[in-house]
Amino acid sequence: MDKDNIIVLGGAGYIGSHTCLRLSEEGYTPIVVDNLSRGYAEAVQWGPLEKADILDTLSLTEIFKKYKPLAVIHFAALIEVGESVKDPTSFWKNNVVGALSVLEAMKVAGVKNIVFSSTAAVYGQPDTEEPLGEDSSLDPINPYGQTKLAAERMIRDHESFGIKSVCLRYFNACGADPEGRVGEMHNPETHLIPLVVQTALGLRQQISIFGTDYPTADGTCVRDYVHVLDLADAHIKAVEHLTGGGETFVCNLGTGSGYSVREIINAVKEMSGNRDFEVLETDRRSGDQAFLVADNKHAQKILGWQPTSGLEENIRTALKFHSSDKYRNFWKNR
Ligand SMILES: NC(=O)c1ccc[n+]([C@@H]2O[C@H](COP(=O)([O-])OP(=O)(O)OC[C@H]3O[C@@H](n4cnc5c(N)ncnc54)[C@H](O)[C@@H]3O)[C@@H](O)[C@H]2O)c1
Repeated sequence: MDKDNIIVLGGAGYIGSHTCLRLSEEGYTPIVVDNLSRGYAEAVQWGPLEKADILDTLSLTEIFKKYKPLAVIHFAALIEVGESVKDPTSFWKNNVVGALSVLEAMKVAGVKNIVFSSTAAVYGQPDTEEPLGEDSSLDPINPYGQTKLAAERMIRDHESFGIKSVCLRYFNACGADPEGRVGEMHNPETHLIPLVVQTALGLRQQISIFGTDYPTADGTCVRDYVHVLDLADAHIKAVEHLTGGGETFVCNLGTGSGYSVREIINAVKEMSGNRDFEVLETDRRSGDQAFLVADNKHAQKILGWQPTSGLEENIRTALKFHSSDKYRNFWKNR
């Protein structure tokens, strides 16, 4: 029997490629649609790659008609906050006009289910040390967060065309496939765990801590780090929720536990065999919240989702991927 097709927009990127791996293990065929602007053909290992831009509605429509997917999972976006401040036009075009193009293609091709990658950046700068629920105020402080919130709202409005959705607000994705087939390869990298791991492995000179005077236990920012395969599993549960007749909803994806920048640096140091590396303490960056941790009760209740990996597994898999010949040769050969 043919396996059910799922369209994975942005499936050549970090979270998309791990989701394709898990989709394939669960008996689905992931069809990746990606323009390869930030992702890699080498990361597409579990189904076909259709090289296309989500802004090209006609091509998307043809792809959707060809594969008749049960659902679309929409990861394709520009993601770097600093870049969004410098170039908001590209972010609004790619992330908002792009999402509109996806919805138009779904309408024409008759695809009824979408799972969308949203972000904790929609909450802006909450003034609390409590885990954030989905009812926290929505007040993004940069164009990246604004575009994600706008896309969420646009997707929800399309319910009147019979398109049902789950918007998943991820906190900090991290880690890699334990078998090292795919991993985190953003370029430039701005996420803490891969940056510290690369520094510990001698691939970077130093790691910077931006601000040591936050109102947290050790003065550095606290974040909620969730393993990329746990995120991948939540997408499969979200697809099955929708295809099983479940309602449209929005939920956070995080572990509910926070770690400070210093705790991450110390944990990586310890797990990499106490390698010594330079840690530079500098001023705060604008726009960084002191404390950003998810209340994930909604995801537990509606999706039956629970993260399975803790900090050790997150760092262990990242270390393994970044130490691999596969990772080093990949950059050498480009
Ligand atoms: N990485 C995180 O910690 C994190 C946290 C919260 C939310 N998110 C969201 O998750 C999603 C995936 O993040 P990621 O870390 O895997 O990013 P990524 O950059 O690794 O992957 C994004 C993929 O989308 C593709 N893409 C971008 N624009 C496209 C377009 N116009 N047409 C076709 N393909 C396009 C890129 O080539 C890339 O392969 C994003 O939507 C991001 O906003 C990520």
